[in-house]
Amino acid sequence: MPFPYERPRRLRRTPTLRRLVRETTLTVDDLVQPLFVVEGKNSRQPILSLTGQYHLSIDAAVAECLELYEIGIPAVILFGIPNSKDSHASEAWKEDGLIQRAVRAIKSAVPDLIVITDVCLCEYTDHGHCGVLKGETVDNDTTLGLLARTALSHAHSGADVVAPSDMMDGRVGAIRKALDEHFFPDTLILSYAVKYASGFYGPFREAAQSAPSFGDRRGYQMDPSNFEEALHEAALDLEEGADMIMVKPALPCLDVLHEIKRRFQRVTAAYQVSGEYAMVEAAAAAGLLDRKRVIGESLICIKRAGADFILTYWAKEAADWIKNGEFAW
Ligand code: PBG
Repeated sequence: MPFPYERPRRLRRTPTLRRLVRETTLTVDDLVQPLFVVEGKNSRQPILSLTGQYHLSIDAAVAECLELYEIGIPAVILFGIPNSKDSHASEAWKEDGLIQRAVRAIKSAVPDLIVITDVCLCEYTDHGHCGVLKGETVDNDTTLGLLARTALSHAHSGADVVAPSDMMDGRVGAIRKALDEHFFPDTLILSYAVKYASGFYGPFREAAQSAPSFGDRRGYQMDPSNFEEALHEAALDLEEGADMIMVKPALPCLDVLHEIKRRFQRVTAAYQVSGEYAMVEAAAAAGLLDRKRVIGESLICIKRAGADFILTYWAKEAADWIKNGEFAW
């Protein structure tokens, strides 16, 4: 029955009423904090492209993880920035590589914190592409072997979850097979199933020193204009054995995130990427946006669209707000 019998505003009249009928909530359990790990000792250097984020030496990363765990954050995702890079990304899969050492240190100090490792070669190749080159293109099938090797070395160091972000075809299957063959049946795979070739990764590439030295990633990451292809990618990764799938970036892809959650009904994450973060930080610094409010709004909207959890550079801060009852939009 229409107006005047129906008055939807009745349900919005007071804050308590709005709280009672709220459909979506965000808890500390939904937040994953990305961390950038570098070589060195007792070092915590601000990242210029990502205000409020730091390059952490392993000991500093351990200290940070203790704090995050204390606040109740369930998981971190680690990115490594090695001192040396080569054409075969050997620092990515070395048993005593940076990330491998970081995982061991974190798991021994905070065993219960879930450690996710990003599995990709772009931070480790001297050309900055996500795999091994043949001529000017990334060779899919040679890259698979190195990705599986990288994931295995992370699992061996104690990583709970490996998260391939390279967008090679068949990488989830290759990683699952390697993990199972080497007796890591419990290591989870969170695949970046739907990863668009996005301009929003710009600040991350500064932070991780991983911008490609020539060309771009459009030959392996997805075209932002495609939707059906996203469903196909997600279906393939699930068939190959992904335990959880991810959509990235988040805010530009809420339509995709929503449909993937609805259609597959599997654990689905969203990555609120560096450009989404930097955009809000810059606008807030210029006095154009209410920072706290838009961070809250963006996170709740990603949740509303279907994310089970969110990788976000604001995880620690948002967790604090949630704890203190200050989280709002
Ligand atoms: C590695 C990787 C990237 C991001 C996550 N894993 C960069 C890229 O693909 O260029 C981006 C994260 C962000 O922008 O916050 N391949």
